[in-house]
Amino acid sequence: MITEPNKSTEVSKTSTHMKAIVYHNYGSPDVLQLEEVQKPVPQDNEVLVKVLAASAAAGDWHLLRAKPFLARFVYGLLKPKHTILGAAVAGQVETVGRNVTQFQPGDEVFGDLSACGFGAFAEYVSVPENALALKPTRLTFEEAATVPVSAVAALQGLRNQGHIQPGQKVLINGASGGVGTFAVQIAKSFGAEVTAVCSTDKMELMRSIGADHVIDYTQEDFTQNGQHYDLILAANGYHPISAYQRSLSPQGIYVMTGGSTAQMFQAMLLGPWLSRKGSQKMGNLLAKPNLRDLIFMKELLEADKVTPVIDRRFPLQDVADAIRYLEAGHARGKVAITIE
Ligand SMILES: NC(=O)c1ccc[n+]([C@@H]2O[C@H](COP(=O)([O-])OP(=O)(O)OC[C@H]3O[C@@H](n4cnc5c(N)ncnc54)[C@H](OP(=O)(O)O)[C@@H]3O)[C@@H](O)[C@H]2O)c1
Repeated sequence: MITEPNKSTEVSKTSTHMKAIVYHNYGSPDVLQLEEVQKPVPQDNEVLVKVLAASAAAGDWHLLRAKPFLARFVYGLLKPKHTILGAAVAGQVETVGRNVTQFQPGDEVFGDLSACGFGAFAEYVSVPENALALKPTRLTFEEAATVPVSAVAALQGLRNQGHIQPGQKVLINGASGGVGTFAVQIAKSFGAEVTAVCSTDKMELMRSIGADHVIDYTQEDFTQNGQHYDLILAANGYHPISAYQRSLSPQGIYVMTGGSTAQMFQAMLLGPWLSRKGSQKMGNLLAKPNLRDLIFMKELLEADKVTPVIDRRFPLQDVADAIRYLEAGHARGKVAITIE
């Protein structure tokens, strides 16, 4: 049974219920409601996590609005199959199922829930143990919650698809957002010479996280400046795929991670065709949750090679505002959700 509580951050008082941000129909952030729902009970292979932080990502508003439309074939044709959003989570293990071997109550964990039903925008979530890793010790829960989706996407784009190598010239377009701020730091950790593309007021941030060169896209179009890059990660900001190709070195790789629908379809449909001749490779990334990649990120974070950039923090009841803010498209790093 579901009842609507007053807007409050107070933790649920019953042991069988919890507060969660719920949506029953696709739509704008206005459809998100704070509700009191049944607290999940972990299956044998699951861990019940007391959520201490989550983070919002562009994927949340895509799922909320079911955009692109094709998403409905996976996440529910007429209504969302999973009514609690939130993929990236950090928290503390409350109880464990009988077959769980890796975790015990009290462990501090983080993970990506997008392959196991989402649900991070809630006080508790039940998660298969293989979706979780121990939280990096030097990070707060909020910082840890920014990592599982955006940093892993940046890592998979640069390393798995981009085959990043030390000394390469790497350009990140959309460098100042959730994926981009991780991508700049991950590329530096691989020994690349990194060019970050962002708007004027984010240039200093880019230098502070290690970018060697910064291009203000409001002043300069990097696709027209005659420079060539071994790897371009497009995290945001539209350019025709032909313009990206012009900016690649003869053996360069273009990885489209995010941006407009037009950019996505160009990378998906034209990328393989443009990659047929010569040695350039062009295509799009479909990042997937991967525990080994999450642990790789944990090691970079613990070695102080990467530090999450948090733009804003929103309490659980204001997830709708967090998503509205992200949807405006100009976040400065990640948007964290705190659960008090
Ligand atoms: N392929 C995958 O599996 C995968 C995984 C994760 C995310 N994504 C996608 O990746 C994209 C980026 O995600 P995100 O979390 O980084 O989003 P985000 O945090 O909302 O990114 C916003 C950033 O984009 C920048 N931006 C906006 N217009 C720009 C332009 N014309 N040129 C350059 N930069 C521009 C903004 O910088 P300014 O304010 O400076 O303009 C802002 O910092 C989204 O489309 C998301 O859906 C895909």
